[in-house]
Amino acid sequence: MTFRVNPRLLYKNIDLLRFTQKRYRVKTKWAATRPKVSSHELALQNFDATYSMQFGELWPSVRVSLLSEQKYGALINNFSGDDTVTQLQSLGCRDFVASSLDMESGDAAQSISDDTCIHLSKVSISPNLRCFVFPKGDTSRFKAARQDSYGCLSYYLMDAASVLPVLALNVQKGQSVLDLCAAPGGKTLALLQTQTIRFLWVNDWSVSRMSRLQRTLLSYLPDQLCSEDKLHFTCFDGRKWQELGENTFDKVLVDVPCTTDRHSLVEESNNIFSRSRTKERQNLPLCQTQLLLSGLQAVRKGGEVVYSTCTLSQLQNQCVVEQAMKVAEQELGIYSEVVDLQPFTSLFKDTFNFAPDMNVGVMVLPHLTANFGPMYFCKLRRLT
Ligand SMILES: C[S@@+](CC[C@H](N)C(=O)[O-])C[C@H]1O[C@@H](n2cnc3c(N)ncnc32)[C@H](O)[C@@H]1O
Repeated sequence: MTFRVNPRLLYKNIDLLRFTQKRYRVKTKWAATRPKVSSHELALQNFDATYSMQFGELWPSVRVSLLSEQKYGALINNFSGDDTVTQLQSLGCRDFVASSLDMESGDAAQSISDDTCIHLSKVSISPNLRCFVFPKGDTSRFKAARQDSYGCLSYYLMDAASVLPVLALNVQKGQSVLDLCAAPGGKTLALLQTQTIRFLWVNDWSVSRMSRLQRTLLSYLPDQLCSEDKLHFTCFDGRKWQELGENTFDKVLVDVPCTTDRHSLVEESNNIFSRSRTKERQNLPLCQTQLLLSGLQAVRKGGEVVYSTCTLSQLQNQCVVEQAMKVAEQELGIYSEVVDLQPFTSLFKDTFNFAPDMNVGVMVLPHLTANFGPMYFCKLRRLT
């Protein structure tokens, strides 16, 4: 294809150039013809460069899974009167939590149970969290949830891997919990499904996302639960949590903002790889470290913090945990230890594809036969 140039325009531009002092010249042509890479293309370039180094020969398989349709889980709403479970079972779905527990706790001598917790030899799990998934390799999709006669929805669709950080937090009966970055609220809802929490403080810095969270909770929970003293909502900068108090909670969930890898590869809107958000993206590891430090300050001695992200990035995962633990020790005198999640992951290995050889924390890697994740989580116990 050839372009015809209007000679009058060309000469006019040359004259302009000739009479413009060199220091006032702007490289408009260069700026206008600079190739426009969309945000999701930029994300893919970035991931190809970093993750091929990080994951080596695993990267092509993770890459194709990330670019393929994500698999969901249906988190059962225990507050709904609908009998959804039978319907989901008739579709061939299974509750991945219960089926893992059934396999592990078959030997009654190894397990002690009450209505809120099943204690296996090395790990305890809330049986009240029920999340149905289609079998491995089955890419069927769930229908939208239905309302029961009181207007409560029967299940919440989310990446089933998002339930794992909540299960790992292992809230015991009567405990207080802080959900530091809670919106849009999938994990908050999962926390409430455990029916063990005495008090839940739900925080998110974004006012609009927090109102979305509250609308979601209203469509899943009975009115009296939303209005009870049990729930407290704030829109506070979680990095400054120490201004609100320290050593308070039994458990803290720190589910931080991150590069949301799956979203960044498919969605142009609200994409963290857009040029206007470059600074924000570069600042993520610092912001994440500050949020985890807040979590370590907010939890009581002996209490536990789960840090989680939905990115594969080592810089936003292991490095943040290591850095926060170091700063907490050196500057705040807070010592913590990483809790071994190996018994936990072996419980769910038939449902999720866990990354091998992780030094700190656990990673669910997307895989075509089980296209959940990415989901990184690490559990810390505060010692001093
Ligand atoms: C990954 S999302 C949380 C997802 C949520 N936990 C869930 O399961 O639905 C991260 C959240 O952190 C919030 N956030 C970002 N910076 C924050 C800050 N400084 N303090 C508290 N929340 C923050 C964002 O508004 C966003 O809603």
